[in-house]
Amino acid sequence: MLTEKQKFGKIISLGIEITQVKDLDVLLERILKEARLLVNADAGSIYVKEDDKLKFSYSQNDTLQLRQPGRKLIYSTFKMPINNQSIAGYVANTGDLLNLQDAYKLPSIHPFSFNRKYDDLSGYRTQSMLTFPLKTNRGDTIGVLQLINAKNARGKAVAFSKKDEPLILHFANMAAVAIERAQMTRSMILRTIKMAELRDPKETGAHVNRVAAYTVAIYEHWAAKRGVPHEVLEKNRDILRMAAMLHDVGKVAIADAILKKPARLDDAEREIMKQHTYMGARLFTEQYSEFDDASSVVALNHHEKWDGTGYPGHINPFDAKVLPGYENSDGSPRPKKGEEIPVFGRLVALADVYDALSSKRAYKERWEEGLVLEELKVSSGTHFDPEMVETFFACIDTIRNIAERYPDH
Ligand code: C2E
Ligand code: SIN
Ligand code: SIN
Ligand code: FE
Ligand code: FE
Repeated sequence: MLTEKQKFGKIISLGIEITQVKDLDVLLERILKEARLLVNADAGSIYVKEDDKLKFSYSQNDTLQLRQPGRKLIYSTFKMPINNQSIAGYVANTGDLLNLQDAYKLPSIHPFSFNRKYDDLSGYRTQSMLTFPLKTNRGDTIGVLQLINAKNARGKAVAFSKKDEPLILHFANMAAVAIERAQMTRSMILRTIKMAELRDPKETGAHVNRVAAYTVAIYEHWAAKRGVPHEVLEKNRDILRMAAMLHDVGKVAIADAILKKPARLDDAEREIMKQHTYMGARLFTEQYSEFDDASSVVALNHHEKWDGTGYPGHINPFDAKVLPGYENSDGSPRPKKGEEIPVFGRLVALADVYDALSSKRAYKERWEEGLVLEELKVSSGTHFDPEMVETFFACIDTIRNIAERYPDH
């Protein structure tokens, strides 16, 4: 547990750190983790306002997590109205902090009731609850953070200290500003994607979200196995998710006649389609940040294959010319092979094909899951890095959960 002094020191450095996280999902996870740490809460959830509803967006629970070690908590998102009937709804509606001793024994002065459905399902006992609004500097409530079961030094659930309330409200304000910024970055990226890939109305933003979430899930597992330091992992997740969302952004350069063709492409069309890799990379010429760099790498490398039969190979994306020393005998660029392909490219390659096979396209039907998994297995070592395929199967539960979270319709 943190001392008062440590808490204030932490608040100050956190304010700086969280404003640097650009990706919304990564940010929500980070905010919840830090808020829980601040007041030693066993569990918590974040609700983000969407239109006139509250969306249950992220949840953590140490006790439940301990019951299934190594697994990510499986949770579903749902929306609830902003009114005084629920605890989170009340806080969003009134903008007031709510510090409750026991969710099962609410004083009758309150208009809301506690929904025990999730406790009943999970066997968890929600006791103390600290629920507060995420308010921006303009005073807009953009969401609600709910901390559950403060623990004392012996791990027993106790009430949240009233002394912590000002601290947590200050934290909430910094969190709200960071979330608002991440929402803007995300909506900008989604608009970019809409202009590109979503020229084809049959493809939706769901593909992009799924590919990004699969990529991050596989990366996390892979990085943990490889002993990648925690700070590196955190930072990479953030940029990797956004870069993965933009993997096909170069399709904006491909003519509709090819992009939307409801049939197999012929050889000439397929050659043109291949340009979407370096066309995408070109959008990130100004390598202002690691985000631009990662996006460029992902766009350029997501169709390379482990056995050296992919595309576009060793080229300079800006003029599409072969790099000196990498010419085949006919002068064409030699495809990248094995570890010549950057890790981010190898990851997105797997996530992209998994999703493409699992989805309906203008040119193909969706495949049954069994066939998709079989295809990935037989492509281990040919199309895909065997280590990535192995990692994919090790986190298949998370992958399936992501598919459910981002359905096509
Ligand atoms: P995409 O639809 O997102 O597919 C991404 C990758 O998933 C493909 O890369 C390929 O590796 C894999 N994939 C997709 N469908 C199948 C399939 O039915 N069988 C197998 N074995 N693999 C599949 P690829 O082939 O380099 O294609 C890149 C992009 O080019 C595709 O993205 C799609 O937008 C377009 N494309 C590819 N083939 C066709 C086609 O026959 N017709 C049309 N209209 N577009 C195509
Ligand atoms: C974008 O390129 O869509 C914006 C992402 C950023 O640089 O933060
Ligand atoms: C994430 O969305 O942050 C990762 C995917 C998941 O495990 O749900
Ligand atoms: Fe692609
Ligand atoms: Fe794709």
